Amino acid sequence: MKPTLGFSIAAALVPLMLAAEAAAPALAGLEYSRSGELKFPERYREWVFLSSGVGMTYGPAAAANAGRPKMFDNVYVTPESYRAFLESGKWPDKTQFVLEIRSSESIGSINKGGSFQTDLSAIEMNVKDSSSPNGEWAFYDFPVSGGKPNGYGKPFPKTASCFQCHGANTAVENTFVQFYPTLYEVALNKGTVKVNFEKLPANTTQVATTVTSDPWAKAEALLDGLAAHSPSANSVSEASLNQLGHRLMQTGKAATAVKLLEWSGQQYPKSVNLQDSLADAYMAAGDKARATTATEKALKMAEADTALDPARRKAVGEAAAKRLKTSH
Ligand code: HEC
Repeated sequence: MKPTLGFSIAAALVPLMLAAEAAAPALAGLEYSRSGELKFPERYREWVFLSSGVGMTYGPAAAANAGRPKMFDNVYVTPESYRAFLESGKWPDKTQFVLEIRSSESIGSINKGGSFQTDLSAIEMNVKDSSSPNGEWAFYDFPVSGGKPNGYGKPFPKTASCFQCHGANTAVENTFVQFYPTLYEVALNKGTVKVNFEKLPANTTQVATTVTSDPWAKAEALLDGLAAHSPSANSVSEASLNQLGHRLMQTGKAATAVKLLEWSGQQYPKSVNLQDSLADAYMAAGDKARATTATEKALKMAEADTALDPARRKAVGEAAAKRLKTSH
């Protein structure tokens, strides 16, 4: 009884499995219609996810969204191209990117202050294909209706803004690799970033690594460069510098903390927090005289700063009292 049943179930399943296989769209094949339209890769969500941005929409999609919450965009690339890029820092032929633009919502379920992604608003593709009827690099639009993209996408003409902006601002070939964090590092290491590409400002981790491990002169040059060219970069914000200063003190690098916080104090001369931290750093470095002078300055600054949070003011006062007591 049993073997017969097993056999009959298996026999019944074979045609079903074959049918499912035939119906599943190819993961990454390129298919064009006779008029040169590109077939939509329905399984792009199984590709490699490169990054997500908020409010990074440009051109027609941005204009259509004017006055509404900033949209999300998600970028996917064909898996074999991703693996090739890790090896070479370049895109192989037949590389396909899907840019998915989704609406943003902030009220729903447990979410309070954040934003999450909802319905599909637009889908575009960027494709490298040397045998394409539309040129080696081509952009496609798949109009979305009822939340679903069209089955075929029309190529954009070479005069479209896509070519202009991607041509002028991308880090690698025709693609915005500078915004795909894992790949940007690969491209920098492999030296495949375009020669005229203006590098992104050093991020918080890069600044912390240089300040912690390199001679101060090198760290200072990096910080000076950031202050001159990207003063609003997160890596040189008051909060980031203060946090790094504390981390240096906690890891026994008080002398470096002093240098960093002296530099930071010149950058943010009104910052009570940085002045308070500098006093701490002098103390940690065993320089009691400077710790006293810096503490007195922090107290004066706290007094003059009418916008200072009362809890902060109290904390600065208490830290000062403790320092002055031990330094005399
Ligand atoms: C003003 C500049 C600008 C214009 C114009 C522009 N893009 Fe982009 N595009 C970007 C940026 C920046 C990214 C990086 C991803 C993001 O949005 O975060 C990107 C990413 C993409 C990607 C993902 C793959 C890649 O190339 O990095 C696709 C696909 C894409 N754009 C399609 C288009 C199409 C189609 C058009 C024309 C209708 C267009 N873009 C016009 C700036 C632009």
